[in-house]
Amino acid sequence: MCGIVGAVAQRDVALILLEGLKRLEYRGYDSAGIAVIDGQQQLQRHRALGKVRELQHLLQAQPLLGTTGIAHTRWATHGKPTEYNAHPHFSGQEIALVHNGIIENYESFRPQLLKQGYQFKSETDSEVVAHLLHSHLQTGKNFLQAVQEIAPKLEGAFAIGFIDTREPNRIIAIRRGCPLVIGVGIGEHFIASDQLALLPVAHQFIYLEEGDIADLTRDQIHVYDLNGQRVERAMHTTSLTHDVAEKGKFRHFMQKEIFEQPKSVLATMEGRFSRGHILEETFGLQAATIFEQVKRVKIVACGTSYHAGMVARNWLEEAGIPCQVEIASEFRYRATVVEPDTLFVTLSQSGETADTLGALRLAKNSGFLATMAICNVPESSLVRESELVLMTSAGPEIGVASTKAFTTQLTALLLLTAVLSRHHSANGKKDQAKKELELVKQMQNLPKQLEQVLALDPTIKKLAKVFADKHHALFLGRGVHYPIALEGALKLKEISYIHAEAYPAGELKHGPLALVDDEMPVIALAPNDELIEKLKSNLQEVRARGGELIVFADEEVALENGNGVRIIPMPKTDRLIAPIIYTIPLQLLAYHVAVLKGTDVDQPRNLAKSVTVE
Ligand code: M6R
Repeated sequence: MCGIVGAVAQRDVALILLEGLKRLEYRGYDSAGIAVIDGQQQLQRHRALGKVRELQHLLQAQPLLGTTGIAHTRWATHGKPTEYNAHPHFSGQEIALVHNGIIENYESFRPQLLKQGYQFKSETDSEVVAHLLHSHLQTGKNFLQAVQEIAPKLEGAFAIGFIDTREPNRIIAIRRGCPLVIGVGIGEHFIASDQLALLPVAHQFIYLEEGDIADLTRDQIHVYDLNGQRVERAMHTTSLTHDVAEKGKFRHFMQKEIFEQPKSVLATMEGRFSRGHILEETFGLQAATIFEQVKRVKIVACGTSYHAGMVARNWLEEAGIPCQVEIASEFRYRATVVEPDTLFVTLSQSGETADTLGALRLAKNSGFLATMAICNVPESSLVRESELVLMTSAGPEIGVASTKAFTTQLTALLLLTAVLSRHHSANGKKDQAKKELELVKQMQNLPKQLEQVLALDPTIKKLAKVFADKHHALFLGRGVHYPIALEGALKLKEISYIHAEAYPAGELKHGPLALVDDEMPVIALAPNDELIEKLKSNLQEVRARGGELIVFADEEVALENGNGVRIIPMPKTDRLIAPIIYTIPLQLLAYHVAVLKGTDVDQPRNLAKSVTVE
């Protein structure tokens, strides 16, 4: 949802900002812009419709010189993607701003600003804020005082960076509801929506808190809290290097991230095991006390993270722990009954998804036993606002289509299931310890099994040709593999734009079977589990209607290749980790189909990586 970056330095900042935008492009990419204050204290700006490279062309043709600047890559919310709606927005040739998020009450300021003679050149909520600040500066306030005065008037979730030609060596930023980090350099300071943007120029970062206002010059950083008090915020040194945001030998970030999964899953498990059992201490100091009391679990998430929650419901309920899973945007706006001793778990790669964060904030006042975040970004709002935290260690995920975040979430959820089941086992401690030992063994095997299944890449690349001219596809799974089918369908639709649906295979005969013909490839997941015979009958139903079947099947499952059935043999897989393994070929399939169709794999149309608006 839009990326912002800003710099106040002793050198020209345009190229630093441009590099920052390239690294933030995953957040939004329908237009981009940059503004600097030049040597004559004038604002200079370039804006371009389309990707950051369009802006780069403008900068190459006409460089912008200036040591203070801000830049933006947009994901349209208010006003269509056009050059005039692109940021930075100006007021009076003196104020410029870049904005991520939504100002909910922007309409309420317009009549007064119009009366004061301000003219609106865009359809955005952001431009209103530029004029609002400008109007407050006319009353004799300095730059900081004026920002502090308007901040409480703004409603919504946002991060904003401002520059003012009257105080040219200064950036002021507000963080409320959307991520914003300060990069600390030597004689230069930066702001950005994500530290990734600043890795080439900074390794020390300050993570602003909700409601903070930061005042940056070349030599100092002052942070003010919600009440306007000066506060100290801790400085963190990152271990990330600037090449984490590079593709290396891969053609796309998504491809790189698919192949990183053995490593990310291993990293997520690192330090969690000792002598065949899971270390509960790694869930946090209060974890053991809280887990002891947990009687049920409520999981809330969006998109791919929601699918991970659906898988976990199967695992938790098999362990005797009642579990409900819900889409965050639904949970927020419906009356729910909270049963006693329910652990509220949010799942999120970014930790900044507005709906998930909104759900967490609601849950904190709704009588849940405790809140827990399973998240990939340690500095995120979700992590900071949850009582318990289980970090996934996927590393930065840049491709908009989530891949390694999903499999590391599943890994974390298996760990959680095992630890919660300790307190719930009806069959005694000995039996539980045996089960845990078996699970740990399976999990330790996971990276190797992931490597094995990644070796199917050339086979799946060939298979992708079947889909290149298709308009629809159906994914089938049963039990714990139904959410994996949903995830496969989501991957295919979001990057290849092929309409894809997923169904529990037993549900086919209740309607969707009517869709099946020889134009509808049907992808089925057939691990060798207790539901395999039932699944085979469902596949017969498809074949009988002329549907072309592609079955990812365990090598021990007796299914015949040919006659409209294509079997992709999967390595023999341990039962509990099978959903993680069966995810991989579906990611690869979506990837290769998208490449064949020539879509923008890493930045599919209409989407953004981190959905920080409702
Ligand atoms: O950062 P989160 O995990 O909270 O994001 C949730 C969804 O927006 C995300 O999973 C989305 O569905 C992905 N594009 C799917 O690939």
